[in-house]
Amino acid sequence: MKKAMLTLVFGSAIFLAACGGGKTTTTESAKDVTPNGEEIAMKSCIVCHGGELQGQGNAPALNDVGSRLTEAEILDVINNGRNAMPGGLVKGADAEAVAKWLATQK
Ligand code: HEC
Repeated sequence: MKKAMLTLVFGSAIFLAACGGGKTTTTESAKDVTPNGEEIAMKSCIVCHGGELQGQGNAPALNDVGSRLTEAEILDVINNGRNAMPGGLVKGADAEAVAKWLATQK
C-alpha cells in the first residue's frame, strides 16, 4: 500500500514536471538555441533603420516591412543587400530569424 502511494506521488510529480515546469524549461532553452530575430534586428539594423525601426534617411521603415515584403524577400535583402543596404550584416540562422520576425511586422 505504501509503495502504491509512493508510486502515485512520484508519478504525478513526473506528470507535473512534464506539463508545467517542463514547458517553461523548453521555452527558455529554445530561446538560447534559436536566435531571437527581434533582438538581432534591434542590435544590427537600428543604426540605419532608426531606433524603433521606423525608417531613417534613405533606409525605409522596417516596423511595417511585413506588409510589403515576404519573409523570403526580406531574407534576400539581408543576405544580398540592395542599393545602399549592405548584405551579410547578419548571416545564416540569425538572418533567418530576423527575416522571420520582420515578416510579422505589419
Ligand atoms: C548601412 C545602413 C543599413 C543597415 C545597417 C541596415 N540597412 Fe536595411 N536598408 C538600408 C537602406 C539604405 C535600404 C534601402 C535600399 C534601397 O533603396 O533599395 C534598406 C532596405 C532594407 C530592406 C527593404 C525594405 C523595403 O521596404 O523594401 C530590408 C528588409 C532591410 N533593409 C533589412 C535590414 C535588416 C534586417 C538589417 C539588420 C540586419 C538592416 N536592414 C540593416 C540600409 C541599412
